[in-house]
Amino acid sequence: MPDSPGTTAPNAGSLMIPGGTVEIIAGGFTLRYDWGEDGKIKQNSGPGYPQWGDGWVFEPALFAVHFDGNTSTDLRVVNTHSEGQITKISLKDSAYTFYVDLVFQSISEYNIIETWVEIRHEEPKSVTIQSAASAAIQIENGDYYLTQFSGDWANEANMVSEPIRKGIKILDSKLAVRAHQFCAPWFILSDGPLSEDSGTVIAGSLAWSGSFRFSFELLPSGNISTICGINPFASSFQLEPGEQFKTPKMVLAGSNSGSGEVSRNLHRYVRQSVLRDGDKPRSILLNNWEATFFSFDESKLLSLFKGAQDIGIDLFLLDDGWFGNKYPRNDDTQGLGDWQTNTEKLPNGINYLTEIALDHSLRFGLWFEPEMVNPGSKLFEQHPDWVIQQPHRELELQRNQLTLDLSNPEVQEFAYTLLDDVLRAAPNISYIKWDCNRYLTQPGSQYLPQDRQTYLPIAYTNGLYSVMERLNIEHPAVEVMMCSGGGGRVDYGSLEFAHELWPSDMTDPVRRIYIQWGFSHFIPAIASASHVTSWGGRPLKFAFDVAMSGRLGLDLDIDKLSAEEREFCRRAIATYRNFREIVQFGDLYRIESPYDGPRSSVLYRKDTQAVAFVFSPDGAPSANLCFKGLEPEITYQVIETNLPDGDTSWGKFPGQQLMSSGLSLPKMQALTSSIFLLTPNN
Ligand code: GLA
Repeated sequence: MPDSPGTTAPNAGSLMIPGGTVEIIAGGFTLRYDWGEDGKIKQNSGPGYPQWGDGWVFEPALFAVHFDGNTSTDLRVVNTHSEGQITKISLKDSAYTFYVDLVFQSISEYNIIETWVEIRHEEPKSVTIQSAASAAIQIENGDYYLTQFSGDWANEANMVSEPIRKGIKILDSKLAVRAHQFCAPWFILSDGPLSEDSGTVIAGSLAWSGSFRFSFELLPSGNISTICGINPFASSFQLEPGEQFKTPKMVLAGSNSGSGEVSRNLHRYVRQSVLRDGDKPRSILLNNWEATFFSFDESKLLSLFKGAQDIGIDLFLLDDGWFGNKYPRNDDTQGLGDWQTNTEKLPNGINYLTEIALDHSLRFGLWFEPEMVNPGSKLFEQHPDWVIQQPHRELELQRNQLTLDLSNPEVQEFAYTLLDDVLRAAPNISYIKWDCNRYLTQPGSQYLPQDRQTYLPIAYTNGLYSVMERLNIEHPAVEVMMCSGGGGRVDYGSLEFAHELWPSDMTDPVRRIYIQWGFSHFIPAIASASHVTSWGGRPLKFAFDVAMSGRLGLDLDIDKLSAEEREFCRRAIATYRNFREIVQFGDLYRIESPYDGPRSSVLYRKDTQAVAFVFSPDGAPSANLCFKGLEPEITYQVIETNLPDGDTSWGKFPGQQLMSSGLSLPKMQALTSSIFLLTPNN
């Protein structure tokens, strides 16, 4: 445990602690810091927080240019402090009044460390921060594998593992307004090929919704130096005397028993400490996006309400296309920014819709994209200067849209007010989908001074958080889904303001099996919106079974379903209610990976109950399914559920047998799936 002399005031000039050790432990992973008489901090035979200009020629955690142009920093330990779960190691430059605190919050019940860095100074003029990482980790014995989650729009979170080799490997994003499109802001290091159930594993995730960078450098010494934080690329900023810069939290989870345990701990942590209302079951929703896209009117929505009520839906989510009059939002080319109800499509307004929804026992949700604007909009006509752009450059559109400059407090006020106005005018709205359908390519602000332009990515994210926080404070009962052209906002930073996220616009269940598998490493099922759609024309049962392994929702045109299909939906929704809490609050055991064979399976366990999902997209030979995570001593009744003709019992089996020899599953046809409910047999 931390050594905490606690006798030195945090701002104590250059008083140094003559030698010490601090250890912060998370499962199979320990951050151990030592320093000697000179106060130079080390971590596992490498530097504790490598500074540029201090003899370190590899990737630094900190690069500061001091008031007089000195590009080097030389930090020494001046104090340590420990209180409850928080440990702080205070460092000071040997010659400058420049202070860096390394802060650790250990969440020992989940083997998780949250770590961040606080920087301040009292130099006569501003200091330029070129880079300031949230975490610097030195791992001895560089024989590690790195697993990343890469992809693109509608193809998120593909798992790629490789040994860490000499040189430097960087996972990053430079998207500024969101963390993710091509690479998720998470990684896993493992002391061999990644395994679910064995081996030392360190999982990392940056709680930040902008550009990030994780670097993994295998040093000549054989250590791996990992530096994690906001992407310093084109993001330097001035820190004024007396001002404090606090980096975002880096969340590190460790285990000696493989990635399964790390995910279960991360899920518990996210439910408890990150998500809003992580202890409340999520509603089953119908979203009209893939049912209608932009082509709907009031009577279509009323008809969907009827269908939704008929099959047992809790919440109706009206997606894009409900606003804009001068520039009606009938496709994605115009209207974004004009958040007035489109009177042609919805002559009686949103509040009327919410009331009719209530008459059908439906909560009501609404789509917004508060940060964006189409050039074809009244907003753009009135405030072209609010757009992020660079002088002398032609505006670059993505999905026909531009980004509003949230570093500007006036724009923050606009974004908050547009949400607030709609929510106050229609007080029954209890859910919003917050979208963000582009990233930055021309990061210039007309609000920030000319010599502060590289501060935009950080200022934007801070502005975004201030709007989200205000929304949460003023409208605490309104649930929020984070969406960003599919899974662009899947970071623990934005999730603090949300209840769930939309992992991907790819809703073909065959592809979703892989996407959900990837997400499940860091995101608990309760937060992973998973919808039944008609994408791919897959059998309804298969689509439902895949969606039921996450937070179930539907994007279906109920009006187009046959009576038999409606009946299937009705029963599947009722069935999901039976085990929703096992999926949403249970522990996840990944059993068979879709990457490894023709059949994939996962199991959730809560107390003595479990539910297992088995998927066969292309057909699979007969093989035993060896369950995980059960109680060996309990005899379970195994029931296959969500079958068109009602539940079927597979018999009673001791947990030990189900886990060792397993359940013999017959050959599966392509696009088939099974759900097994396991309850103790009394
Ligand atoms: C994004 C989202 C979709 C949908 C559309 C609406 O692509 O990911 O779910 O909301 O925007 O334009």
